[in-house]
Amino acid sequence: MNMIVTGGCGFIGSNFVRYWLGLHADARVVVYDKLTYAGRRENLRDLWDDARLSLVIGDIGDQALVRRTCQEHSIQLIVNFAAETHVDQSILGPLVFTDTNVRGTHVLLEVARELGLRLHHISTDEVYGHIPDGHQSVETDPLAPRSPYAASKAAADQLVQAYAITYGLPVTITRGANNVGPYQYPEKAVPLFSTNVLLGEPIPVYGDGLQMRDYAHVFDHCAGIEAVLLRGEIGEVYNVGTGREMTNLEMVDIVLNTLGADPGLVRHVTDRPGHDRRYSMNVDKLRSLGWAPQYDPRQAVAEAARWYAANAWWWEPIRSGEFRGYYDRQYADRLSGGPP
Ligand code: NAD
Ligand code: DAU
Repeated sequence: MNMIVTGGCGFIGSNFVRYWLGLHADARVVVYDKLTYAGRRENLRDLWDDARLSLVIGDIGDQALVRRTCQEHSIQLIVNFAAETHVDQSILGPLVFTDTNVRGTHVLLEVARELGLRLHHISTDEVYGHIPDGHQSVETDPLAPRSPYAASKAAADQLVQAYAITYGLPVTITRGANNVGPYQYPEKAVPLFSTNVLLGEPIPVYGDGLQMRDYAHVFDHCAGIEAVLLRGEIGEVYNVGTGREMTNLEMVDIVLNTLGADPGLVRHVTDRPGHDRRYSMNVDKLRSLGWAPQYDPRQAVAEAARWYAANAWWWEPIRSGEFRGYYDRQYADRLSGGPP
């Protein structure tokens, strides 16, 4: 199958490309990526010599380039990972989230409609909003996003579903939980906390740290997407996670224990505005396709922390370079003040 993987130089996209090429000898993959700060060629550095893989640098909002790329490579399937993805960045500068996540996805849908392609869209559990104790989101639940990032992802989901209904476009959607694993940009909590520990810097825990997340291994997410691509029902949505949550303080404990670090590094800092307290998804629908998560969330976090300990070549240039400006903007006041 010839596929275009948008956002394939990012965290989950690059893991997916490696996963897919590893299992499908006859695969042809075109990575289409704008190479924002989060998109990094080195995430696929072991694969660029593989004749089955090519890279086109471009914006998913550029309809002519997306169309030409799909035509030139005889693409049959678009898998859309491309997005602005960090909630804190969406609070600091929200408009680019609408440009890429909403308009960009819309452009991909238009190209899919023009050329008769299948589109698989990567969504998130954040579209369901904060989930009260005792409930796990199912795919038919109403969307109730609460951050600019989550709202842009929910809008994209709804466009994808509208194209299925209005034009009969063959689409599928997966909604992923919090992924952890190799090559995650260190703005996200697990790589940020791991690399802070390795640098001897404090760990900024927002608020009381009792927010709940399902920390799922990115390999399980890739396997879930594969199951939907191969066996999923066209027009359907599938949740992908472990179905088990932990508090952020528990996640921090795992990072500290795995890296043998001093718990005194933890600082409770001013909370994220509108911080969703709990995400939790039921993943039975995906299990019915024969998929099951291979990693327990505790193992997933520990394994991710170990990856950062072993791969300073990847994160040190990021942490000592462009990331510094964002880090200061996001954390300098938080870390210099007293308790929140
Ligand atoms: P990421 O930020 O690591 O990577 C995003 C990629 O998209 C980068 O390579 C970037 O260069 C590219 N990109 C951004 N804007 C683009 C544009 N306009 N045109 C082309 N490429 C563009 O993100 P990630 O964590 O790998 O997330 C991938 C997808 O999975 C996103 O759609 C995200 O919403 C979703 N998701 C992420 C998680 C998670 O925990 N990280 C969980 C569930 C769903
Ligand atoms: O749930 C899926 C989502 O997971 C994806 O759609 C997003 O793209 C991805 O960024 C992630 O969103 P979160 O906001 O949940 O992840 P993040 O890693 O930013 O934060 C995880 C938890 O840790 C969250 O409760 C906020 C908290 N946190 C985060 C940071 C960066 C802190 O306490 N301190 C921090 O410095």
